[in-house]
Amino acid sequence: KCIKCVFEFFHLFCFSQEKKIIISQSLFSSEEDSSLYFTYSGGCNELEVNNLHYEVDTAAQIPWYERLSEFKLPWEMNGDKQTAIDKLSLRVHSGQMLAIIGSSGCGKTSLLDIITCRDEGGKMTGQVLINGKPNTPQLVKKSIAHVRQDDRLLPHLTVRETLSFVAKLRLPTHFTQAQRDQRVDDVIAELRLRQCAHTRVGNDFVRGVSGGERRRVSIAVQLLWNPGILILDEPTSGLDSFTAHNLVITLSRLARGNRLVLLSVHQPRSDIFQLFDLVVLLSSGSPVYCGAACDMVPYFTALGYPCPRYCNPSDFYG
Ligand SMILES: Nc1ncnc2c1ncn2[C@@H]1O[C@H](COP(=O)(O)OP(=O)(O)OP(=O)(O)O)[C@@H](O)[C@H]1O
Ligand SMILES: [Mg+2]
Repeated sequence: KCIKCVFEFFHLFCFSQEKKIIISQSLFSSEEDSSLYFTYSGGCNELEVNNLHYEVDTAAQIPWYERLSEFKLPWEMNGDKQTAIDKLSLRVHSGQMLAIIGSSGCGKTSLLDIITCRDEGGKMTGQVLINGKPNTPQLVKKSIAHVRQDDRLLPHLTVRETLSFVAKLRLPTHFTQAQRDQRVDDVIAELRLRQCAHTRVGNDFVRGVSGGERRRVSIAVQLLWNPGILILDEPTSGLDSFTAHNLVITLSRLARGNRLVLLSVHQPRSDIFQLFDLVVLLSSGSPVYCGAACDMVPYFTALGYPCPRYCNPSDFYG
């Protein structure tokens, strides 16, 4: 009986150790891998937008005392409303890359700002759900990396200093200094920033890196901490076509590693367009097409708008 007891204790001990190893491996597999393309193991993310309507009152942005020249009292002034997004619904989940395409002023930035709770001065109806929960600034901060159209970087730091600074702040605390440096090197190589790694970033007053390089630094800052959801507003604007193509390939590889990638682009080249899984085509805030990228041309052809031969579909329909 005593031997049986010892055996059972030994079995229990081994089993719990084994379980501990399995649990720790499943919890920290992604964090232990310091390379850029690790497969995101934090679960499947889903982003859902239901019947979104966004309206801006442009007249309300002018102070009432400036509008008194119209000889009207404040309560008599009628609003001048502009619809930035009209009845938009979409759903995207981890492993997919969704591109929002459309001409300038069609509402791309407004949509991304609403998703990340950064919209200002507008009235919104409808729902934005992240993993089934309404988007709140806290949830967004925890789970989404957002590269905005306008850069917000410290002008006096060099590119490498900027990235090292972000690596110290945002990478998990158990990362060693060598792992942090490795991730910074990976991102610098991936975004072809080696030649300007020791140049200061600069701004309108301080001359620094070029416009396209600064854009790539903003993307690098968000790629560095590499969460489950990546949102990028016009990441390819200001880049040459080769760099733009490489960047979208990078994003596509990140999406394959169980991430959700949402980006806006003006009129992408056809080889960039082919990399997208889903496409939303906006026209003056209204969705004209929402679905798989490969089905967009057959959809418009069936409606009687075939894309001419040798013509880029995103140029033609966008
Ligand atoms: N807070 C706001 N105040 C005034 N107008 C706004 C506001 N937000 C959006 N708009 C208007 O909504 C429209 C869509 O703007 P948005 O910035 O989303 O366009 P966009 O598709 O990102 O354009 P671009 O490609 O040029 O960046 C524009 O006509 C813009 O003037
Ligand atoms: Mg924009």
